[in-house]
Amino acid sequence: MLLSRQEMSFDFGGAKLDPAKDREVLRWMFSQFLYGEITGIQVGHWIYAAPDLEAARFLAKQAVEELQHVGNFLRMMQMLQLTPQPAHPVLRFLATGMMGDDWDEHVAMEMATGEGFVLQAFYATIATLDHPEAVAILERAVRQEESHVDFGERQTMKAIAAHPALRRRLLGANLVWMWGVRRLAGYVGKRLPADQPVLRQLQPFLVHALSCAQLRLLRVGLIDRPLGELSATYKLAVVLELAASKLLHAVGKLLLVPLSLLPFVPARGPRRLTDTYLSDPTVQALLQPATSTAAHEAE
Ligand SMILES: [Fe+2]
Ligand SMILES: [Fe+2]
Repeated sequence: MLLSRQEMSFDFGGAKLDPAKDREVLRWMFSQFLYGEITGIQVGHWIYAAPDLEAARFLAKQAVEELQHVGNFLRMMQMLQLTPQPAHPVLRFLATGMMGDDWDEHVAMEMATGEGFVLQAFYATIATLDHPEAVAILERAVRQEESHVDFGERQTMKAIAAHPALRRRLLGANLVWMWGVRRLAGYVGKRLPADQPVLRQLQPFLVHALSCAQLRLLRVGLIDRPLGELSATYKLAVVLELAASKLLHAVGKLLLVPLSLLPFVPARGPRRLTDTYLSDPTVQALLQPATSTAAHEAE
């Protein structure tokens, strides 16, 4: 990962969440986590869009892991005697409504930024939850989540190296995502008990999480200076461009018009593995010895 666990961890100063006293808070938190894990079913969609065999294999492994995480959260909720409740609409928007239109948006938004944020929430839960058995389960899931974030970061860097213009659209999506996260934190701040020692630190935790998200954007190469140094006009322009691209994408899908014919939409039709597998690096590497052996035999 481009950010270490140490960089992403927030110091709650020893404040704890008590499984009995803070049951309602934990119920809300774990219900959001559970929903996030359920959205792991989207990975199936992205296997179909994977650009190469290595990526498809990674996602197949990730799909299994996310479904295991659903089981892990159900087990933790059972241990903590929590009944799942529906996820907050803003979280549903961030995790499902903002589902990427293409591979580049998926790896940048859902994997690098989105799972990066979830990972920080997991680190925070590990640091504060006063329940060693549940924490041990979460520790195991965290290692897998780290690999998902790492994959998202590497794929994003690859995508913007190949298509630098992508940076504007992905920055627009990140700005919208940051707005959504602030809305979610605003809800938590208003509705959940503010006198709880961990929740009292929610605002500084959010500031830390957003600064880590910004650091990731810098290290991935989506921005070359802190967001505060970008003009409001520029930020508005990239968000409007994103909105226009989403609208055109939706209209294009509706009319079944090939995206590459639409203006302002990156002309990158979905090249599926079924089109590209013969030139795939993994297949090529496997074919290489057989080809050279055949050539050798022919001599
Ligand atoms: Fe997960
Ligand atoms: Fe994940």
